[in-house]
Amino acid sequence: MQFFNQSEQLENFQNRNKKGKKTKMAKLISITSGKGGVGKSNFILNLAIAMSIRGKKILLIDADMNLSNLDILIGVYPQFTLKNLIDDLISVNDLLIDGPKGIKILPASSGDISIMKNTKKAQQALIQAYTELKPEYDYILIDTGAGISDYTMDFVLSSEKIVIITTPEPTAITDAYAMIKMLFYHHKSPDISMVINMVQTDEEGKNIFNKINMIVQHFLNKQVKHIGNVPFDKYLPEAVREQVPILLKRPRSISSANIHNIAVSILREDKNKE
Ligand SMILES: Nc1ncnc2c1ncn2[C@@H]1O[C@H](COP(=O)(O)OP(=O)(O)OP(=O)(O)O)[C@@H](O)[C@H]1O
Ligand SMILES: [Mg+2]
Repeated sequence: MQFFNQSEQLENFQNRNKKGKKTKMAKLISITSGKGGVGKSNFILNLAIAMSIRGKKILLIDADMNLSNLDILIGVYPQFTLKNLIDDLISVNDLLIDGPKGIKILPASSGDISIMKNTKKAQQALIQAYTELKPEYDYILIDTGAGISDYTMDFVLSSEKIVIITTPEPTAITDAYAMIKMLFYHHKSPDISMVINMVQTDEEGKNIFNKINMIVQHFLNKQVKHIGNVPFDKYLPEAVREQVPILLKRPRSISSANIHNIAVSILREDKNKE
């Protein structure tokens, strides 16, 4: 219940300025998964770059409180953390780091015990940061980490789009379904899109999506969407080691092409809604 009230509050924040007038605000997209380690952070980082290349102003929020690492993926070390914002030592804009191709990243406070102990305060700081920044961006993408914590639940529930990532592993698929079920429990009609990561073939990705969607239809009487697959790419671990996003390291690879296609389809879908 608490989630509903807060996510309604977030929606209001999203649509109205201080004078109560409707304003154009960033669209919120949450990226999450059931199981950890399925490729969320790499996917969201490269998706952000692909959207930015297409002229959109992108803010990427690392909201994985336990194992944040978007900054590490680009080899930048943040000067400040959410903790500094909570302590009123800095402004929201001081927190942001410059990512590739003009994207901005709001880093998390990985492993900061005081933040992890006081989720409520961290959540308020995140809402404050989000509220201040949303008029300046076209899209805000949130990496929620695996599973959804109280810390990110309101953001996920008030997102225009929720992207759930899974790999072909049965454990990841089962956990993705558990996540979908939980989202339908908390939200009447979440817009859920699936990405199947580390596939051997596109066919494999399609089959896995169909299997998940059939279970969702059968047990929940609902539907989820498929926005694409990303193949297993042997250069991706290398890109992570070199701290260069795959889209920049190997722009012509199939994985980069697929991420570009997913960016295009998200932007196209939004354009059609306007
Ligand atoms: N398409 C891919 N092909 C090959 N390896 C991949 C692919 N996607 C991700 N990986 C590898 O999987 C590992 C985990 O990726 P990543 O950190 O993006 O996952 P995550 O879901 O964000 O993990 P966590 O739940 O811990 O936050 C990385 O080492 C990365 O190299
Ligand atoms: Mg991650």
